Amino acid sequence: MAAKNDPAGLALRLVAIERLRIVLAGSNFSPIGASELADSRDRAIANRLVTTALRRHGHLNLVIENLLERGMPSKSGSFEATLRMSLAQLLYLPDLGDHSALYLAVEALRRDKRATHLAGLMNAMLRRAQKERERLLEPPQPLLFPEALRKAWQSAYGIEAVGRFAAALLAGAPLDLTLKAADPALLEVLGAEALLADTVRIQNRDKAVDALPGYAEGQWWVQDVAAALPARLIDRPPGATVLDLCAAPGGKTAQLVKAGYAVTALDNDAGRLERLRVNLARLHYAATIVEADAADYAPEQKFDAVLLDAPCSATGTFRRHPEVVWNRQQSDIAGRVKLQQKLLAQAAECLKPGGVLIYCVCSLEAAEGESQAAWALSHVPGLQAFPIAAEELGGLERAVTGEGTVRTHPGLALPSKAAGSLDGFFIARFRRI
Ligand SMILES: C[S@@+](CC[C@H](N)C(=O)[O-])C[C@H]1O[C@@H](n2cnc3c(N)ncnc32)[C@H](O)[C@@H]1O
Repeated sequence: MAAKNDPAGLALRLVAIERLRIVLAGSNFSPIGASELADSRDRAIANRLVTTALRRHGHLNLVIENLLERGMPSKSGSFEATLRMSLAQLLYLPDLGDHSALYLAVEALRRDKRATHLAGLMNAMLRRAQKERERLLEPPQPLLFPEALRKAWQSAYGIEAVGRFAAALLAGAPLDLTLKAADPALLEVLGAEALLADTVRIQNRDKAVDALPGYAEGQWWVQDVAAALPARLIDRPPGATVLDLCAAPGGKTAQLVKAGYAVTALDNDAGRLERLRVNLARLHYAATIVEADAADYAPEQKFDAVLLDAPCSATGTFRRHPEVVWNRQQSDIAGRVKLQQKLLAQAAECLKPGGVLIYCVCSLEAAEGESQAAWALSHVPGLQAFPIAAEELGGLERAVTGEGTVRTHPGLALPSKAAGSLDGFFIARFRRI
């Protein structure tokens, strides 16, 4: 906590250091919000410091190896987060100036009992980094992703595409919204451009999401252009019953309600379901909400369609969650693959004969996507492929594969001239016989 007489800029750094510390310890990154830092300028700087340290994580590993001969001191509280953040400022955020990086790093450590004794080391390292900036900045681009992941992606998506992944990691994600209804005047006040179907894009995010026009009135919800694809592929007439099996926080549920389906939204996480409730209420949308484990959910009435947006490694979201590429281990993926298969088998059980199943994951890993679709066809009784036709993705035809599945990734060109890329998603469609 910062105190009254603390130097200017320290309070926002203490919040940023703490956010980075918990992400380094394995938590997902979520942007620092207004409840943590009320001043929007401070908040913007704090989020920039944390996200830059995360986007440059691979390069900073090398810089730290270079500067810290004996390795990271153990049990050193906020030392590592402070060091990474201050190096990120010195190397990549020159507009914030060197002085605050050096001075405030030491001040921050002085407020952490576990790290105070390392203030001298911090100061020496940052001064050396400042002197040797040119050498440290030589950009070893491959370091943006862990080597094993980069190699796997290069063989799946090609070297050129992975070069675009790197650019997308550094650029971050624009803000995509799904609109409740087409409204050119709303686009104008939002400063948004039409992207694909009912998705629009805002390039310059200088306002908090809840301060944007139309938020309070429930005229749109935040949803990446790729995340908006699966719910559009249900291919059932309005009024059909649709089960959204892993529904929270409800981006896809909202699309299903908008399409006129009778929607049941299920999730096993009470906190996330509460967010879904709040989100639907803001949009004036209604769905039946069920808190249950999708792995053994056996509804009395079967459904015309099921959307299974399965829990996954989320590597396709690295533009907004740069930590996923460093936090995910092969063993995490193996555990999720098993759960996804259980959920796929149970999802098929929830369908009427002739019913449609959409399986999707925001992962770039074939083990969670392409291989799972093949597994479902050979292991889940009664499921057959219901290929997605290129025309159904109007504008993004190139994402449809020869097997009639959809594969998006941040290296894929978007149909409009809008700058920026899209999340990695895999989508497969099945029919129950
Ligand atoms: C990828 S997120 C869903 C995002 C959501 N479909 C949307 O569009 O906003 C995966 C969800 O699966 C839920 N989940 C994970 N395991 C589950 C299980 N066994 N049963 C039900 N839900 C589960 C998580 O709580 C999480 O909300």
